[in-house]
Formats: sequence, C-alpha cells, structure tokens
Amino acid sequence: ETGNVTLDVGFVNTASCESDITYIDGDQGILRYRGYPIEQLAEKSSFVEVCYLLIYGELPSENELEEFEAKIRRHTMLHEDLKAFFNGFPRDAHPMPVLSSAVSALGTFYQDLDPFDPEQVENSTIRLLAKLPTIAAYAHKKSLGQPFLYPDNSLTLTENFLRMTFGFPAEPYELDPEIVKALDQLFILHADHEQNCSTSTVRLVGSSQATLYNSISAGIHALSGPLHGGANQAVLEMLTKIKNAEYDTDTFMKKVKDKEDGVKLMGFGHRVYKSYDPRAAIVKETAHTVLEKMGSDELMEIAMKLEEIALADDYFVERKLYPNVDFYTGLIYTAMGFQPKMFTVLFAIGRLPGWIAQWREMINDPKTKIGRPRQIYTGYTERDYVALDQR
Ligand code: SDX
Repeated sequence: ETGNVTLDVGFVNTASCESDITYIDGDQGILRYRGYPIEQLAEKSSFVEVCYLLIYGELPSENELEEFEAKIRRHTMLHEDLKAFFNGFPRDAHPMPVLSSAVSALGTFYQDLDPFDPEQVENSTIRLLAKLPTIAAYAHKKSLGQPFLYPDNSLTLTENFLRMTFGFPAEPYELDPEIVKALDQLFILHADHEQNCSTSTVRLVGSSQATLYNSISAGIHALSGPLHGGANQAVLEMLTKIKNAEYDTDTFMKKVKDKEDGVKLMGFGHRVYKSYDPRAAIVKETAHTVLEKMGSDELMEIAMKLEEIALADDYFVERKLYPNVDFYTGLIYTAMGFQPKMFTVLFAIGRLPGWIAQWREMINDPKTKIGRPRQIYTGYTERDYVALDQR
C-alpha cells in the first residue's frame, strides 16, 4: 500500500522512542542528561557521578556517590581466565572487536543474566562500569606486547584506566591531574546521546531479552563504524593525510564538495544537530588547553583551518554541516598518548552508562515488545516457478 504507510515497529525503540534520559534540540544545539545541561555537567560533575545520574535518574548525595564508587572499585579486576582470553587475539587486532568479544565473554563468567531480576541487573551494571576500562587497557597493552597491570583501587575510575593503560609494573605511574580531568570530561561528553545508532542497537538487541552483556557487546560493534564512533579515528587519519601534504586543505575541501571517491569531511555533520554540536564546542576548548600543555600541534591548526573554511562555505552552510563531537577529540587523545585505534574504545567507555541506562529503561517499560521493524516491499509481485530447462 503506498501513500500513508504506517510502520508498526511494535516496541519502544529508535524511530518513536519515549525516554526520560537525554534531551537534544538539534536546531538550538542543546544537550541535557536528565534535565541537566551538558555544559554544567562537563564543568562541575565527574564521570562516575554522571554514570549515577544517567542510570538512576538523579544526582547522588555524598553518601550515595561514595557507595556507588566503592561498589565499582570492588569490581575493576578481571577473572584470571578472562585475562587469558586476550592471548587468543593477534597483537595487531583492532581493540573494538576485542572489547565487544570480552564484554560478551563477561556474560559467561557471571550468572547475573536475568533482565527482570533487579539485583542481577544491578550486579551486571556495576561489573560492566568497573571492568570495561580494565578490558580496554588490557587490549591496549596486548597490542604492545606489554604486561597487564592490576587495577589500583585507591584511584578513581579514570585515574585507574590511565594507569593501567600507560603504566608499567616496574615503576610508579605519575598521574597528571589536568590530563585526568580532561579525559574525565570527555567521558562525560560521550556518556549518552538519545537514540543514536549504537544506543538503538543496544535497545533493539535488549528488546529480545538478550542479556545486558550481549546487548552492550552489540552496541560496541555498532559504535565501531566510521560514520558513528569510528569517526574520531577517521578524523585523525584525514588530518594526517593533509599534514603529510597528500593534499592541502583547499584541495581537500574541493574533493569533499565534489564528493570525489565518497570523501567526507569526517567529524562534520550530524543526523540531529543541524547546528554546532554543543559537545564539540567544549572539546575544542579542552583541546586548546591540553595541546598547549603537551606542545602545540600542527594537526590542530589544520583542523581549525578546515572548520574556518567550512563555516564560511555555502556547501556546508546550506547542508547545515558543523563540527560534531568527533572532530577535535582525536587531537586530545593523541596528545594524551593514545593510538588512533584506541579512540573509539574511549568513546565506548564514555558511552557505556548511557547504553546501560537506556537498556534498563527499555527492559522496565511495560510497553516494550520485541523489536520487529516492518518494511515497504518493493520487489516482484507473485510469479510462477520456471523449470531449469526453460530458463
Ligand atoms: C556520531 O546520532 C548520534 O547522536 C551520533 C553521535 C553520538 O553521540 O552517538 O553524535 C556520534 O556518530 C557523530 C557523527 C560522526 N560521524 C562523522 O563525523 C562522519 C561524517 N559525517 C557524515 O557521515 C554525516 O554527517 C552523518 C552520517 C554523521 C550524518 O549524515 P546525515 O545527517 O544523514 O546527512 P546526509 O548523509 O543525509 O547528508 C546530507 C548532505 C549530503 O549531501 P547532498 O546529497 O545533499 O548533496 O550533506 C552531505 C551529504 O553528502 N554531508 C557531508 C557530510 N555529512 C553529510 N558532506 C561532507 N562531509 C560530511 N561529513
């Protein structure tokens, strides 16, 4: 039937999802987690506090935050057999499939799998928040052939992650408070974003009553695509090509506008923001702070030049293409010492509380049914089988 086709998607999911968690106004460039503006949370909150806010719906009291942080700290270690799991991957494996596989494997070590048992959902929530940074750090160490470090639970989640990633067993690791604060803020900025591709994946997989671990594992795969979370790595590759004088900024921008070989200005454009992504504005500020500290950066100059050209060029203005959260993050991560293939892993660590909050909202919503989107059939009408010797 053409004309008014109403697609009954049959469950609380992407296209017409009701949610109390995150509000976006794409035209005004507004982003709020549980009503709090992202600018205030980025400036005043901490990543663990934002995890609590997204998952439980309110900012925690001092005691609630202390108890939440203590619960997370107790679960940062991985089962010794799960550590052996990393030996199954080649050293040059991209860390995103390692992350997704390890998260799925978590569900084989723990029996907190019943999506309708609040205590089991709470256990898997805490285990995922606590162990994902450890898994990410181990994936990085595995790629370097370096020893894994056990977590140090005297540290915060972000401090522990930096130490496990860049530290060595043989020597103390000195945390730089400015780097810790910058990374903690970046995790806050990535923590949730309404029904983006990976969050919709988590909700869709979870709507079949798959475990939280498997739903998050699916979300990690969705995030890895270069049009989604993989864009931060693609931006750095784009800037590096320009820096290596494969082409200058003007030549590159002409390629983009001519749509040559599908070249895009990575880190620009958004399905919802048709204005400046409020997160990108904050990241740009942080980039200046971190890069000044870590030494000025030619790639930052190139990025700012591309932004300057795009914001003045009708091609981009007419299509409402502005920097998104991925445009400047890779520059900061590079200055912090992360390799490009770890950038989307950092996005996943930040996005985890949002995925968990959205999965819990979906599984507890009585209106949720299994995801079963319909289609508009555009194939052949009925026809009869043709015998082989007649074809
Ligand atoms: C994230 O959904 C979320 O919330 C995601 C995210 C989150 O927090 O979860 O915000 C994180 O994924 C951010 C986006 C990261 N991806 C990139 O930076 C990759 C580059 N961006 C594009 O691929 C694109 O902008 C999308 C996919 C992000 C959004 O695409 P839209 O809104 O569907 O736009 P479109 O593909 O319909 O394009 C509209 C026009 C087209 O030109 P015309 O056919 O009209 O001539 O704009 C052009 C496109 O060719 N266009 C671009 C462009 N993005 C769109 N041209 C050049 N460079 C770009 N980046």
